[in-house]
Order: sequence, then C-alpha cells, then structure tokens
Amino acid sequence: MLNRRDVLQKCIALGAVSIASQFSAEEMLAAFQESEKQPRKPTPPNTMGPFYKRLVPVNDVLRAPGDSGIPLNLSGQVFDTRGDIVPGAIIEIWQTNHKGYYDLEGYRYRGKVNVNKSGAYSFESVIPGHYPDKSRICQHIHYAVVSPGHKPLVTQLYFATDPVFDGDPAKNYSRDPLLQTPELIRPVILTGDPSEVHAKVRFELCLERL
Ligand SMILES: [Fe+2]
Repeated sequence: MLNRRDVLQKCIALGAVSIASQFSAEEMLAAFQESEKQPRKPTPPNTMGPFYKRLVPVNDVLRAPGDSGIPLNLSGQVFDTRGDIVPGAIIEIWQTNHKGYYDLEGYRYRGKVNVNKSGAYSFESVIPGHYPDKSRICQHIHYAVVSPGHKPLVTQLYFATDPVFDGDPAKNYSRDPLLQTPELIRPVILTGDPSEVHAKVRFELCLERL
C-alpha cells in the first residue's frame, strides 16, 4: 500500500499535482499533509481478560489450511491523537477459534506483528466463536498495542454482525456489560462467493502520546 506521501509524489510525477511555488516540492507536500491531518480520539481501552499469553511469536497468519470458521482478514492503521501515523507500533492479538475456545497450551489464534512504515497491519484469521460457557457475551478479538513514546493500549474488537446486537450495535452494545461504547464494534464486509464467504474488518487504532 502506498502511503500518503508516496501517493502525492506519484501525483507530481504523473502531473496530477504541480507545485507552483518558490518552495520545494518536499516542503509543499509536507505542509499539505500537515493541513490534511485529522485529530483523532484515542481508541477506547477494554479489559485484557484472563487468556493473554506472553511470548507470542511474530505471525500474521493465524488461520491454518482447513480450519473451520469464516475466514477473516483484519486490517487497519495505527495513528496517534494528532493524526500522525505510528510506524513503530507492535500489535498482539489473541482470540478463540470459531467454536469459542482459546488455545491455552500453544499459540493457535495468537499472533504479533510490527506495523509497516505506513502504520498499517493485517492478520489472517477466522471469526471467533462465542464462549461456550457464556462467561462472555460477545464474539471478540483482544488487542495489545505498544509503541515507544506512546501509552500502551489494551482493547478488544467486536463484530457488528454478532447476533447479540440484533443488527443495531449503536442501540444494543450495552448487552455486553464490558462494552461501554459502540466504537469498538466494527462493520463486517463480506467478500468471496456464496461457496466460500470471507469476512473483512478494519480496525484503526489510535494511541495517546506519553
Ligand atoms: Fe476473550
């Protein structure tokens, strides 16, 4: 994926943007980018829960060939509250399999990635199940994000398609007592074809500076 600066540089190369100024293209692009930045709200934290495991390996493909469940591509970008990309972040996720079970012996459905220079990340996984013992209400994926100079973020991602929300997460989010905001509930995009449906979810993360 091209970052914003690469896109602008390509625009210049192809003539879609021209610089008519005594200042350099670099300076003009930097100022243009700066003025386009949006301040962002920090991602709400959410409890870590009891199933975190240390020393998770670097791995962005958590789904093994033949795994049951709906294949899921999770992606997003990491920003700070000023709207700057955070290229040094490390993201860990952990979740259940499609039946709602965590791997407590090994590291199935647990992975860690370093975001790229655009602050972007991506995981291949499956949509997690509901806990069979009903000790948690909603399907969810746990996130822990760290980056030098930023407050660590521990949160969870929820799915707008979760039956718990009855199709209206904005109204029904508090059916899970751990959810104080619908902001952590993300829309689900279905791709593929009816014989093999894939789900895509984007979850942008925003860290507070220390
Ligand atoms: Fe959990």
